[in-house]
Amino acid sequence: MTQKVFIGVAWPYANGSLHLGHIAGCYLPADIFARYQRLKGNDVLMVSGSDEHGTPITITADKEKTTPQAIVDRYHTEHVHNMKQLGISFDLFTRTTTAHHEAVVQDIFRDLLEKKHIYKKSIEALYCGTCARFLPDRYIEGVCPYCRKEGARGDQCDNCGKLLDSFELIDVRCKVCGGTPVKQTTEHYFFSLSTFEQRLKNWLATKTEWKANVLKFTNNWLENGLHDRAITRDMSWGITVPVPGFEQKRIYVWFDAVIGYLSASKEWAQHQNDHKKWEEWWKHPDALHYYFLAKDNIPFHSIIWPSILMGYDESLHLPTEIPANEYLTLKGEQFSKSRGVGIWVPEILKRFDADVLRYYLSINMPENKDSDWTWNDFVAKNNDELLGTYGNFIHRVVTFTSKNFGSIPPQGSLSEMDEEAVQKITETHHEVGDALDHCSFKKGLRAAMNLAQYGNQYFDKNQPWMTIKNDRERCGTTLHICLRLVQTLAVCMAPYLPFSSHQVWKMLGHTQTIASWDDALTDLKEGTPLQTPTPLFKKLELQDIVQEADPFSKLDLRVAKILDVQDHPKADKLYLLTVDLGPLGKRTIVAGMKPYYPKQQILGKSIVMVVNLKPAVIRGVESKGMLLAASDDTGIVTLLNPHDSSPGAEVGVDGIAREPVPVLEFEAFQAAPMTVDAQGHAVYHNKPLKTKTTTVCTDQKVKEGAKIS
Ligand code: MF3
Ligand code: ZN
Repeated sequence: MTQKVFIGVAWPYANGSLHLGHIAGCYLPADIFARYQRLKGNDVLMVSGSDEHGTPITITADKEKTTPQAIVDRYHTEHVHNMKQLGISFDLFTRTTTAHHEAVVQDIFRDLLEKKHIYKKSIEALYCGTCARFLPDRYIEGVCPYCRKEGARGDQCDNCGKLLDSFELIDVRCKVCGGTPVKQTTEHYFFSLSTFEQRLKNWLATKTEWKANVLKFTNNWLENGLHDRAITRDMSWGITVPVPGFEQKRIYVWFDAVIGYLSASKEWAQHQNDHKKWEEWWKHPDALHYYFLAKDNIPFHSIIWPSILMGYDESLHLPTEIPANEYLTLKGEQFSKSRGVGIWVPEILKRFDADVLRYYLSINMPENKDSDWTWNDFVAKNNDELLGTYGNFIHRVVTFTSKNFGSIPPQGSLSEMDEEAVQKITETHHEVGDALDHCSFKKGLRAAMNLAQYGNQYFDKNQPWMTIKNDRERCGTTLHICLRLVQTLAVCMAPYLPFSSHQVWKMLGHTQTIASWDDALTDLKEGTPLQTPTPLFKKLELQDIVQEADPFSKLDLRVAKILDVQDHPKADKLYLLTVDLGPLGKRTIVAGMKPYYPKQQILGKSIVMVVNLKPAVIRGVESKGMLLAASDDTGIVTLLNPHDSSPGAEVGVDGIAREPVPVLEFEAFQAAPMTVDAQGHAVYHNKPLKTKTTTVCTDQKVKEGAKIS
């Protein structure tokens, strides 16, 4: 039987766009590995899907004043599309809101309950009287008892990184209403993690070869002792608890998500019309199970998931390897959707080919330590390495041969240098394979790039442009060897750069796709016509990249609070407004709101304004900035409403970096037209304008498509 390789990749939350940190952290390494394993002739089953439950989703829905379902539908569709564009070759990328997944989770829950691995217990939890509900950890905020920083969440302090219990927080508040929650008793189901301690330890003792970071996170947990964990929550979004009396509660998102690996495998088998096919990966002891994820997910995969598997069904396979990566950072900061730091996949794919991104993320992969994305380095590596070394070698060889021979020339007799090249081919092929076997992705890619560099030197030393004139046979041999180098490169690069490798393969006259890892070493068929080569990669200019930034990024939008309203001395329709911009101070603006808002109504309001607009003198008074209002064709004019965001808070949209220019010309402002959508949100290109805590709406209802200016 062929080797079965199961590849599970962490399920991304469907509450926002993917960013490059996700890709470098797990999807790309998983895909490189999967493609390599398939080329080796192994039977790969690679699954993942959108993680659609839990507070990350409900918090986003609350912020956008929409339903969790609307959020997950939007981002699941986007994830599926982006994965495809990036060439992440899942056998199945599903979602956790399917009826199938729910059934599998509930089945496991019932089974564990029957076996007493799950039990009921009363605990104290924080209850918000105003909201009339128990608050999940992420709905609780307070001062961290360790570092004394405000804004620590119920489960963790982002400032000092300590894991917290919500009771420990000082000055604890409900994030939704700001009220003070109180302790109250509630019943939950617990998973008896503690009873698996010895079995886990015995199993983990065999994993000494795991990566250092994986062992570190895992051992940290073990050393702190394994505590039973609540696996239900007081909330209404999630998988229902299959026990009467628990209708108001849901299964905890992590318990549900990890089971996705098994449920997705079963779903895949159903798609194959072979309901038991998943067992070939899950019940066969010789199968290999690889899990790709970023480091904050490690204990869920090295401790929780294995325990669930042990408790549920002894015959199910445990993880073989967990080659978790460190983080990709941007200017040293961790990518984070909630803090708006990052490069978003839907945006970046509009600007660069998938292979260009895959190359840089592979050669700069945060395998053993964090690595930083810089545009400078991205451009340099694209131009010097991908295009300059690899693309250039392929292009010069295929173009030159095509022009002078049209097809693959005979190999002829080999010189010492030719023999060396042939040897180099075998060596590199072996080296790349060996690195990929060990999930050393950077190492493998460097070895392949060395071969491309070697190829360029070989070409230069053998000067085919000279020998073509006086020794056609010799020239043919040189080019034959060069084409063998090209062939090897196409195969070695195929896991990393699937799109361009396929193109290179076709240039060599192949009509089929690359079928096997050993295709790298097969003899070339003399006389095979070559395809006309087209350049594989483009030179990038740092300047163009920076200039290509979205016009919206130049705007500096802020929340402002109106402190004072005066009539403009020289105009009927204008007010002079004094506004508070928090850390930016106070200033005066002129606004044509008088016909639409009586003084008492506008006073004290929070609005959104463009603070970096070039100051303009309006009827003799200087206005430092402009407020934003929406108007439709019925004559309604209404202010934008940033709810209770604090004065000075930044307003932006997901996926567009805020890079405000010092002075914004009016034309530059007009280049980023904003409108109102059907739900009454202010949007730029369908993306809602947001502050850290809220989504911006209009004060009064206006028609969909109303213009904001
Ligand atoms: N959604 C989680 C995150 O983004 C990862 C879940 S991995 C799973 O951190 F396997 F549990 F699904
Ligand atoms: Zn509340």
